[in-house]
Amino acid sequence: MCGIMGYAGSGNAVPVIIDGLAKLEYRGYDSAGIAIYQDGDLVVTKKKGRLADMVNELGEWPQSILGIGHTRWATHGVPSDHNAHPHMDCHGRIALVHNGIIENYAPLRKELILEGHDFVSETDTEVMAHLVEKYYDGSLEEAVRKALSCVYGSFAIVVISADEPDKIIAAKKASPLVVGLGDGENYLASDIPAILSRTRRVYIIEDNEFVVLTSNSVAISDFDGNPIEKEVLEVDWDMEAAEKGGFEHFMLKEIHEQPEAIRKTLSGRIKDARVDFSDLNFADYLQNTSKIFIVACGTAYHAGLVGRMAIEKLAAVPVETDIASEFRYRRVLWKPGDLMIVISQSGETADTLAALREAKRNGIKVLAVTNVVGSAVAREADWVIFTHAGPEIAVASTKAYSTQLVVMYLLALYMADLRKSYDAEKISKMVTELLYIDTLVEQVLQEQDKIKALAEKYQGVQDTFFLGRGLDYAVAMEGALKLKEISYVHAEAYAAGELKHGPLALIDDGVPVLALITQDKLVEKTMSNIKEVKARGAIVVAVCKENLQEACQECDEQILLPRVNPLLAPIVSVIPLQIFSYYMAIFRGADVDKPRNLAKSVTVE
Ligand code: F6R
Repeated sequence: MCGIMGYAGSGNAVPVIIDGLAKLEYRGYDSAGIAIYQDGDLVVTKKKGRLADMVNELGEWPQSILGIGHTRWATHGVPSDHNAHPHMDCHGRIALVHNGIIENYAPLRKELILEGHDFVSETDTEVMAHLVEKYYDGSLEEAVRKALSCVYGSFAIVVISADEPDKIIAAKKASPLVVGLGDGENYLASDIPAILSRTRRVYIIEDNEFVVLTSNSVAISDFDGNPIEKEVLEVDWDMEAAEKGGFEHFMLKEIHEQPEAIRKTLSGRIKDARVDFSDLNFADYLQNTSKIFIVACGTAYHAGLVGRMAIEKLAAVPVETDIASEFRYRRVLWKPGDLMIVISQSGETADTLAALREAKRNGIKVLAVTNVVGSAVAREADWVIFTHAGPEIAVASTKAYSTQLVVMYLLALYMADLRKSYDAEKISKMVTELLYIDTLVEQVLQEQDKIKALAEKYQGVQDTFFLGRGLDYAVAMEGALKLKEISYVHAEAYAAGELKHGPLALIDDGVPVLALITQDKLVEKTMSNIKEVKARGAIVVAVCKENLQEACQECDEQILLPRVNPLLAPIVSVIPLQIFSYYMAIFRGADVDKPRNLAKSVTVE
């Protein structure tokens, strides 16, 4: 996620900004930049790579009373010097940094080019700089307000002008922004750690709020200019807590970031209740393909299992889902026109990359679903859909998984629409349901304390089983992986109907079985399997949709989920499993964010 830092005061802006950006490095970034006011001009320095590379480029630190800085985590356009922020208007009088996505940047860019504006980057952000230029008529504040009325999407933007060197203008919608209050100097940042060593007095800027900041004043209003009174927050976190946004671990923070991450993944992809991938130019290929191979590892593979069921059900195309390390060594019966979909959070996983290259060697087109712009997978695939989950720091994947699911659903719905393989009305209903799924995730997050209590109760167990049928089985696999990787409890996932073919022998008194019950049509079948394990002494924890609660009365514990379309249920039902695993690890004293023997990115075979 991009980092933002701004300064207005009587000291030197440069060290303050560099120090603030350094404090945001933990968020991950691929380039850095700074714009400062100097002798009537704005001076911009930006560089791909580490913050230290940008600082080297800057040379001797100049003196300045006003400036903004940025660490970029690429979303539109590869990591590069020219895509790094700040972005400027045509005359170098306005500099702007942005965190988020301007969804309608493409038409705006075309329009601005026709009006004579020169663009130098591939970013969505640059349109904002040119819009502010277009509307600038002596008041930066008014120009930014007008520019904001033209864009939609998510943003925290921070702007300065060489013609008004006493102020910084900022605005926020769906991306974080805070103001730090100093003595004769004030700060703007995307996160508290950036300013914590300078002040503990902050305003948390809310969505649709607009800030005019000088060295000794901060005025907050809505986008129309109506003033807003805010309370100063006195922050008592230490630096480590601040980096984790007040959460105890990155994993918990990332679990809670899922509603926002999902919104970002969906951002710009749904228009008039239809999925829009028109920017990818793959409609013809997807319309005609007759076989899809989904290849990935670990959690991403589990997202692929859900993707397979969604694509087969909606788009009626046969799909095989494979573990990348297996796929690369088996004989694949490719046919011209087949499609490979690789899913990878990091975009650097060696086995996934090898499978991608194998497909390309055989003339098969590859669509990548990844979280990292500029990653190897993104560079080598024919088409890429980015998940926009923001950097995932905890080793155990959470928000990457839920956003991968969102992409798989978008793809299935898009293909169904293209191929006319599913009832059009049902497709648009499902698209609308997907658009609101973030609110269901938010509801499940409210159940955290109840799930924590369950983890406390079962913290001492040695073995656990996760059961489900259909999509519930795919989620059971993800739940079991999460539990074993961070809490080191032995966890097995089984298709509920498979139990009696062997694993039932392992069920004994007091063994916890987590049963997923979200598939309305399969509930009775799953319940028969639950009875089988209960009869052998298992303790059954049901993760169950509230409308199916009646059927699972006899389970020992129930975690209730809101009503959700069964096909979309995995996005919602995985949340309690993530929280359960997290607290099991906590109660067992494990290092949650860095589990033993595991690495975040697996770049070896
Ligand atoms: C589990 C986890 C791993 C990754 C796997 C693939 O929580 O994170 O199983 O999903 O190593 O990584 P990516 O998605 O980066 O290819």
